[in-house]
This record gives sequence, C-alpha cells and structure tokens, in this order.
Amino acid sequence: MQALLDAIAAMPAPVDAGRIFHGRGGRHPGCEQWTLDCYPPVFVLTSFAQASEDDLAAIGAALQARWQQIAPGQSLSWVFQHRGEVLRLAGRSDTRLMAGSVPDPHLVTEDGARYRVHVLKGQNHGLFLDMAAGRRWVRAHVAALRARQGQGARVLNLFAYTCAFSVAALQGGAAQVVNVDMGRGSIATGQHNHRQNGLDAGASFLAHDIFSSWGKITRGGPYDLVIADPPSYQKGSFVATKDYARVLRRLPELLSAGGHALLCLNAPELGVDFLRAQVQEQAPALAFVERVSNPPEFADADENRALKVLVFRNNTEGST
Ligand SMILES: C[S@@+](CC[C@H](N)C(=O)[O-])C[C@H]1O[C@@H](n2cnc3c(N)ncnc32)[C@H](O)[C@@H]1O
Repeated sequence: MQALLDAIAAMPAPVDAGRIFHGRGGRHPGCEQWTLDCYPPVFVLTSFAQASEDDLAAIGAALQARWQQIAPGQSLSWVFQHRGEVLRLAGRSDTRLMAGSVPDPHLVTEDGARYRVHVLKGQNHGLFLDMAAGRRWVRAHVAALRARQGQGARVLNLFAYTCAFSVAALQGGAAQVVNVDMGRGSIATGQHNHRQNGLDAGASFLAHDIFSSWGKITRGGPYDLVIADPPSYQKGSFVATKDYARVLRRLPELLSAGGHALLCLNAPELGVDFLRAQVQEQAPALAFVERVSNPPEFADADENRALKVLVFRNNTEGST
C-alpha cells in the first residue's frame, strides 16, 4: 500500500477530475487492488479486494494530512467503494462516505468542460476518467475538420452514456451530434451536461437500443465521425466478442467518404488485435490510422490489457 500513500503525499491540489493512483495498472506490485480518483472536491478510493479497517484508516490519515497542506482550512471529503470479487460477480458494490460531504448536484471540470457526476451511486460515476484523451482527440479532430472544411462536422456518438464525447465535439465546433444510448437516465444526464456547458443547439438524443433499429441513426448520416464506445460485457445488451461486429459492419454506410471512426474497447482480455481484425473482417474499407494514448495517470504494465481507443479512416471510393 506504500505506493498509494506516496502518491497521496505527492498529489497536487486537484482542479480537474482525474485519477491520482492507478494500482490496477499493475505497475505498483502489491497495490493492484487500489485506485484513487478525484472528482473535486471529493476523493473516491476504490478497492477491488477486501480492505481492512486499518488500511482505510491509514489511507484516510494520509489524505487528511495532504489535504491540510494543499487546501488549508477546508474539510476533506472522501468516499470509499468496495468492489471485491464476490460483490463484483453479483454486479454490486458497497459505497460509503468516509468524511465530509458530496455536493448535490456534483459538477466537475475537465479541459474547461463541466460534467455532472454521482460518486455515491453505482460503479460508473457519470464521467469515465480514463477516456479523457479520447475526448481531447475528438475536440481537436473536430476543430481541425472545421478549420479545413469551413463547416462543422456531423458526429454520431454510439453508446453515448452521459454524452461527454458530444460535449467535447460541440466545443470543438461540430455542427451536429447524434447521441444514442439505451439508458434513459444517462441520456437525461447527457442533456443536463450540454446545458451546463451552454450547448443549447446541435445535439440530439436517442434513448434506445442500438440493435433494435438503425433507421433513425442512419437517417441522420452520413457522419464525418462515428464514435463507438460500448461496454465490454453488459448482459442482454452488448457482448463485445459477438456484438462489436454488428456495429462495425454498419460503419461503411454511416461514414462519409474520408470520415473517421473512433472505436473503443475496455476489455483486458481482448487486445488491439481483436478490434483490428474485426474491423478488417466487417469493414475492410476502413484503414487503421492510430491508437490514442491513454492519459499518463492510467499507464499500464501491459498496454494491450488497458483501454483501447483506435482511429480508423473510411477509404471508400471518392474519399478525400
Ligand atoms: C462504456 S459506456 C459508454 C461511455 C461513453 N461513451 C462515455 O464516453 O462516457 C457503455 C454504454 O453503452 C450503453 N449500451 C449498452 N448496450 C447498448 C445497446 N445495445 N444500445 C444502446 N446503448 C447500449 C450503456 O447504457 C452504457 O451507457
């Protein structure tokens, strides 16, 4: 646990939401069970194995000591989430407020954008911190397209969750973003996220199962950028090994000539080769361009097990 305590002792005063300690990445032997995030002003400690009360007390004391140095006079707020194996297999977690309080609504920032989060509810807190580089790539890519073409890009955001990619795309100058997710609550948070950022035009929101009908999605196209960021395994909704192919084979008709696809996969057991081979099989006109590097704070001992964010270009006839 020493590496976690060291990271706490060295952490700067948090401004944006972000990861402070990524034991899961396997670069700190003995610390694989721990992650520490900050959704300012609240720290969220997660343990993927049983944690003793003594460990929690030591981590709490380290947070308290560092907080007094970086935010003198302010009270510390932190939450502990236990996601041990037994709970994980049951799809459950156990979350407690350890000190202080959580704002309601709780808004955090990233690169000047504001997002609503909920750190006491569920395992996903409203903003996937490991996707920060993906959002940066989207904002920059859309801005470059606008500069080159003189008009905003059309973007399709599949598996949109709380629509953070859409906020980044519109801030980059997209003309239109179609967000699709089957979670009504997530889509509602996504709409709220747009309002929080003063983005009142340009986005549309479809709360439906992608596989139930492609009609509305296809009608909004063709798109200059299609983002697909599905779960690796969500019972009854999406299983990467069989369902990613069903998304990929749609890409040629969804994408404009020369358009790009940002394809994401967060399954440790499925590497870059899995996704590239699936694209080759289902949409051979798409050429691999690059892998977007994960944020440095998510560095992993095995990059093939870490989050994969891959860019492809539609090289069909007539592409520019
Ligand atoms: C990994 S999250 C997406 C994260 C999001 N792209 C972001 O950047 O915050 C996966 C999402 O896929 C959605 N989902 C899973 N299966 C789906 C399906 N068949 N149709 C539509 N949405 C689905 C879930 O509701 C969940 O919000």
